[in-house]
Amino acid sequence: MKRSTPADNPVARATSPWAREPHPSILITGGKGMLAQAIVRSLTARNLSAVAVDRAACDITRESDLCRLFSEHHPTLLFNCAAHTKVDLCEDEPEKADAINGHAVGMIAAMAREHGTFVVHYSTDFVFDGRSQRPYRAEDPVNPLSAYGRSKLLGEQKLQENAPPEWLILRTAWLYGRGGSNFPRTIVERARQGQPLKVVDDQIGSPTHAPDLAQATLDLLDRGLTGLWHVTNSGATTWFDFARAALDEFGIAADLSPISTAEWLKVRPKQAVRPAYSVLDVEPLARALGRPMRPWRKALADYRHAVQQAGEM
Ligand SMILES: NC(=O)c1ccc[n+]([C@@H]2O[C@H](COP(=O)([O-])OP(=O)(O)OC[C@H]3O[C@@H](n4cnc5c(N)ncnc54)[C@H](OP(=O)(O)O)[C@@H]3O)[C@@H](O)[C@H]2O)c1
Repeated sequence: MKRSTPADNPVARATSPWAREPHPSILITGGKGMLAQAIVRSLTARNLSAVAVDRAACDITRESDLCRLFSEHHPTLLFNCAAHTKVDLCEDEPEKADAINGHAVGMIAAMAREHGTFVVHYSTDFVFDGRSQRPYRAEDPVNPLSAYGRSKLLGEQKLQENAPPEWLILRTAWLYGRGGSNFPRTIVERARQGQPLKVVDDQIGSPTHAPDLAQATLDLLDRGLTGLWHVTNSGATTWFDFARAALDEFGIAADLSPISTAEWLKVRPKQAVRPAYSVLDVEPLARALGRPMRPWRKALADYRHAVQQAGEM
C-alpha cells in the first residue's frame, strides 16, 4: 500500500475546499467531542458553518447512518472526530475499538469517494512503540503497543485503502481542551479535592491544545495540502511535569509525586501499555505552514484563560 506523506505528497492542489466552493458543506462527526468543538469554534471564527453530528445523530459504525448523512448533506469536507478514545477501556473491548477507530473510517472513506468528499481524520502518537531516539517522522515505521493504538492504525490504513479523492490524516498527542475530560482538567480537579497525586515521570510526549490542532488543520487545508502529518504543540515533557505545569498555571498547591511506569502498572495492571517516548516531529508542519507550532507551555496558559473565561473550571 502506498502511503501519502508530507515527504512524497506535499501539495496536491492549490486551493482549500472553501476557496473552491463559496458555500461548502462541512460535516463533523463525533460532534460532542473535545476536538470537534474546537474545530467548530475555529470554523465559526472564519465565518464558515459546519454541521456537527453526535453519536445519536450518526453512529459512524452504522452504514445506514453514514449513508443518510452523506445523502442529506453531500459534504464537500468531512472532519472525522468520532473515536473510541478511552485508551484503557480499548484493552477490554478491542473489537469495539477496531469497529469505531478502524472499520468505520474505511466506510467513511468509501462514501467520501462516491461523493467527492475531502476527509480530514485524526490519529495518534500511540501508533509508535516509543523506542525512537528522536521525534517520530510521519514515514517512520509504526508498531502500536495497545489495542487503542492498533485500532487507530487500522483507521489510517482503511482510510487510505478506500481512497477518498483527497484526505488528511493528522496524528496528534496528549490532547486537551475545553468541553472534554482531559489530563490537566483531571489533575486540577483532583488537586482541588485535596487528593494526593502520583503521576508517571518516565513517559515523554507533547501536550496539544485542541484549538491549536484545529487551527493547524484549517491552515493545512488553506494551503491545499493533503497526506499524513504530525501535529502537536512544540516541545516535549513528561506526564509528571505536565501535571506540575497545570497546577502552577491554575495556582493550586497539591501533594504531587512522581511514579515510574513500572510502579504504576503494579497499581493498575490492566492499564494499556503506552510508548515511553512519543514525541512527533512537527518540523515538516512548521515548514509547510511557515510558522512553528506554539510551545506546549504557552498553549497551557491559553487553556487556563479559556476555561476560566468560560466559567468551566
Ligand atoms: N484525547 C487525546 O489525548 C488524543 C490523543 C491523540 C489522538 N487523539 C485523537 O483525536 C481525535 C479527537 O479526540 P477527542 O479527544 O476530541 O475525543 P473525545 O472528546 O473522546 O470525542 C470523541 C467523540 O466521538 C464520539 N463517538 C464515539 N464512538 C462513536 C461512534 N460510534 N459514532 C459516532 N461518534 C462516536 C464520542 O461520543 P460518546 O461520548 O457518545 O462516546 C465523543 O463525543 C480522535 O481521533 C482521537 O483518537 C486524541
